[in-house]
Amino acid sequence: MFRPRPDAMPATVPVIVEGRLVHVPPGASAAAAVLAAGFRGIRETPVSGSKRAPYCMMGVCFDCLAEIDGVPGRQSCMVEAQAGMRIRRQIGARSIDPTP
Ligand code: FES
Repeated sequence: MFRPRPDAMPATVPVIVEGRLVHVPPGASAAAAVLAAGFRGIRETPVSGSKRAPYCMMGVCFDCLAEIDGVPGRQSCMVEAQAGMRIRRQIGARSIDPTP
């Protein structure tokens, strides 16, 4: 995959995690942005409410589900942080209502 030259890339990418502005390195995942924002957990299970945090960081464990730009249930470790992206932790089950 082609990437911009390093000198043409921004030094950091601003994202909003639970309303907090966080700057992450280019290429960082949304899951990394949540951790950089200081949250220890990224979701809570629907049944017991136990906290989960990103574990594998490669799309296997699904412990990183989050709401990204209004879309719930996304594997945040597989989504590259983009400038202005809004990330929210997923607490409980995602809504089945297709409108955010
Ligand atoms: S951290 Fe395991 S799927 Fe995202």
